[in-house]
Amino acid sequence: MRIVVIGTGYVGLVSGVCFSDFGHDVVCVDKDARKIDMLRSGKVPIFEPGLDRLMIRNVEAGRLTFTLDLDEAMEGAEAVFIAVGTPTRRGDGHADLTYVMAAAEEVAQKAKDYIVIVTKSTVPVGTNRKVREVVAAANPALDFDVASNPEFLREGAAIDDFMKPDRVVVGVETDRAAKVMAEIYRPLYLREFPIVTTDLESAEMIKYAANAFLATKITFINEIAALCEKVGADVKEVSKGMGLDNRIGKNFLHAGPGFGGSCFPKDTKALARIGQENASPMRITEAVISINEQVKRRMVDKLLDLCDGTFNGKVIAIMGVTFKPNTDDMRDAPSLTVVPALLGGGATVRVVDPQGRHEGEQLLPRVDWIEDPYAASQEADLIVILTEWNEFRALDLGRIASSMKTPRMADLRNIYTAEDARAAGFKAYSSVGRPDMEG
Ligand SMILES: NC(=O)c1ccc[n+]([C@@H]2O[C@H](COP(=O)([O-])OP(=O)(O)OC[C@H]3O[C@@H](n4cnc5c(N)ncnc54)[C@H](O)[C@@H]3O)[C@@H](O)[C@H]2O)c1
Repeated sequence: MRIVVIGTGYVGLVSGVCFSDFGHDVVCVDKDARKIDMLRSGKVPIFEPGLDRLMIRNVEAGRLTFTLDLDEAMEGAEAVFIAVGTPTRRGDGHADLTYVMAAAEEVAQKAKDYIVIVTKSTVPVGTNRKVREVVAAANPALDFDVASNPEFLREGAAIDDFMKPDRVVVGVETDRAAKVMAEIYRPLYLREFPIVTTDLESAEMIKYAANAFLATKITFINEIAALCEKVGADVKEVSKGMGLDNRIGKNFLHAGPGFGGSCFPKDTKALARIGQENASPMRITEAVISINEQVKRRMVDKLLDLCDGTFNGKVIAIMGVTFKPNTDDMRDAPSLTVVPALLGGGATVRVVDPQGRHEGEQLLPRVDWIEDPYAASQEADLIVILTEWNEFRALDLGRIASSMKTPRMADLRNIYTAEDARAAGFKAYSSVGRPDMEG
C-alpha cells in the first residue's frame, strides 16, 4: 500500500520508516527543506537510536522516499498520516491545531481518489471531526474517511515501541477506513499485538488519558519524595515497595526533577483545557501541572542549599540537559528551569550532554558546552546530574571529587548513593527523596 506521512519529526519519521519496514511504499513529506535535504542524503535530523540504519535499509529497498512536494507524494496513496506538531497555544493551554488543519486542507486540495486521512498527532477530542469538515469544505467532491491513530512511542526507544507496541489505537467511522487501517498494521495484527479499534472520540481521549495518567504517576512519586526527605524515608525503597504491587506497577515511579519533554507538559495542559471547556474540570491533572512546576523549583532550592545560599561566583557543572536520556529533545526539559536560575543567580554553568548541544545552544545561550564530564568538573563548586545518560552512571567519582574546588554533588536522578559520594571524597551529596549525606 502507498502511504504518505506528513511531518518528519520524532513521530512522523519513525512512523514512516517503520511503515516502510512493514513493506509499504512510504513517502514522507515535510515543509522544512533542510530536513528533506538531510533525509535524502541519508542523514537523520533527530537523534533516535537505530533510526538511521532502518531508514537507509528501506530507502535502499526502494520503499521509502522524502519530498517537499505533497502533490507528487499523494499520487496513488490510499492513506495519509498527519504527524505534525500540536504545541501548546500561547496564552490558553489549548493544543495549537494550526499545523494539523493546514495539513488537512492541503491534503484535501491534492487528493483525487478515495483516501483515509489519519491523524497521528495528539489532538483534542473532536479534532478528527473538524478535520473531516475542513476536508469536505475544501474538496466537496472527494471520497474520503478520517481516522484517529494516536501514537504512544517514547523517544529513545521509538522503533521498538512502534514495532512492538503495547497496543495500537485506531478510531474510525466506517468499515472501509477500518479495513485500510487493518491493512496498514497487518504485520502487527499477525503478531497478535492488541489493536483497539474504536470511535474517533474515544481514540482521541485514550491518548490524553494515558499521558495524563503517566504524568500523574511521576508527580505522585515526586510528592512522596519531598515527604520522604522530611520524614527520613528513602523514596527508592518506597518506589520499589509500591511498584512490586501488580496493581501499581514499577514504571514511572522514579523520583526526579519533574517531567518534561514534548508530550506530558503540553498534553496535560491540553487535557485540563478540554475539561474546562466542557465544564468537567480535570482537577487531578490541573494539580499535576502546578506541582510539576513546584518540583522543578524545589530542585533549584536544593542546589542553592548546596551552594551555601548563593549561586553568585559559583562554577556549576551540569550533567545532562535533554529531558531524558537517548534523545536530543530539549522541549520543556527541567534544565530549562534549572540552568537559567543558576545563571540568573550569577553562576558560571558548564554543560555536558551527549546529544543535547545542537538544540540546547539556542535554548541555553550563556553556558559553556564541554564534552568530557571530567573536564567540566575541574575546579567546579558543584556537579549536578540532571539527565541519567548512561555516560553518567559509572563516572569515576573519586577523580571528579579530587578535581573539584569544593566536591559537592546534586544527584537529581538518584543514580548514586550518599555512600558512593562519601567514599569518593565528596563533602556534600544531595539527591531526591533520600537522606542527604551527613557532613
Ligand atoms: N515526540 C514524541 O515523543 C511524541 C510521542 C507521541 C505523540 N507525539 C505527538 O505527535 C505529534 C508530532 O510530534 P513530533 O514530536 O514528531 O513533532 P516535531 O515538531 O518533531 O515534528 C513535526 C514536523 O512536522 C512538520 N510540518 C508541520 N506542518 C507541516 C505541513 N503542513 N506539511 C509538512 N510538514 C509539516 C515540521 O516541519 C516538523 O518537521 C504531536 O502532536 C505530538 O504530541 C509525539
